[in-house]
Amino acid sequence: MKELEEKIVQADCLETLEKVRVELFGKKGVMAAEFAKMKDVPGPEKKAFAEGLNKNKAALQSAFDARFEVLKADEIERVLKSEEIDVSLYSTLAKKGALHPVMETMDKIIDYFVALNFAVESGPMVEDDFHNFEALNLPKYHPARDMQDTFYFKDGGLLRTHTSPVQIRTMLETKPPIRMIAPGTVFRRDFDVTHTPMFHQVEGLVVDEKGKVSFANLKSILTDFLQYMFGDVDVRFRPSFFPFTEPSAEVDISCIFCEGEGCRICSHTGWLEVLGCGIVDPNVFKAVGYDDVSGYAFGLGVERFAMLMHQIPDLRSLFEGDIRLLEQFR
Ligand code: DAH
Repeated sequence: MKELEEKIVQADCLETLEKVRVELFGKKGVMAAEFAKMKDVPGPEKKAFAEGLNKNKAALQSAFDARFEVLKADEIERVLKSEEIDVSLYSTLAKKGALHPVMETMDKIIDYFVALNFAVESGPMVEDDFHNFEALNLPKYHPARDMQDTFYFKDGGLLRTHTSPVQIRTMLETKPPIRMIAPGTVFRRDFDVTHTPMFHQVEGLVVDEKGKVSFANLKSILTDFLQYMFGDVDVRFRPSFFPFTEPSAEVDISCIFCEGEGCRICSHTGWLEVLGCGIVDPNVFKAVGYDDVSGYAFGLGVERFAMLMHQIPDLRSLFEGDIRLLEQFR
């Protein structure tokens, strides 16, 4: 009995203790063998024998339980130690990146129109004369081509000057009705505080059966869109000219810096011009072979939106890759 207890106490890990448990209490263990002896014990002595055995068993069991608790605690201690992390250790934190303000603005614009069921279309940056100009009612030698300083390739190809050619490509590929936007990169020979040779636009186009799309629709969606982008601003539509729309309008919001009072940024007019739009010119539909439809279109410069939303004074700074500027948008 002493010897058995000794075995339990000397078990130095859970594994050894488990072996001891099997040896003592298992089906073929010491205790089982002891109990088996019962049958040979003469009747009158059986009771005392059994009582003795049960007492021993209980004593061993409690020795076992006590040892188990100790070893279990040791084991937990050991695992905790081995997995210890020194939280006081110096570490270089991974720097969190952020979207470039132009992309962030682009995403915000896209989100608005996607929620209204507009498809997001794209087209090539290297375009041809037909898609970039001709089909958009800008025939060769048309003076309005001068509005857009174009980069040409020797073979007559060009870098698209706007995302409007995606209108043409989408209409050539699909039947009306159409409800699309085309976000993308465009290029013009221009470089000053508010122009870079590469910038981004979002074009929009809605086409449906004749009479189903009106200037009123255009006005309401763009007003709502601009208030989503800039908050509680006034929106005004000013008659303008684009070859691909008739009538055309430029859209202004009340100056977000002076709230219409007049300041340097709005050139003391109280208004900021933010996009162009209009009712699709019949010549554009003719160029893509559309009949008996009406539509509206709009186009905007993403950088201009980003500059206004973040009060960025020099557009060129957005593309210099200066981490000090970008860090401000984290
Ligand atoms: N494509 C024009 C530009 O780059 C923007 C534009 C104006 C697009 C009016 C349109 C529109 O679709 O209707 O200046």
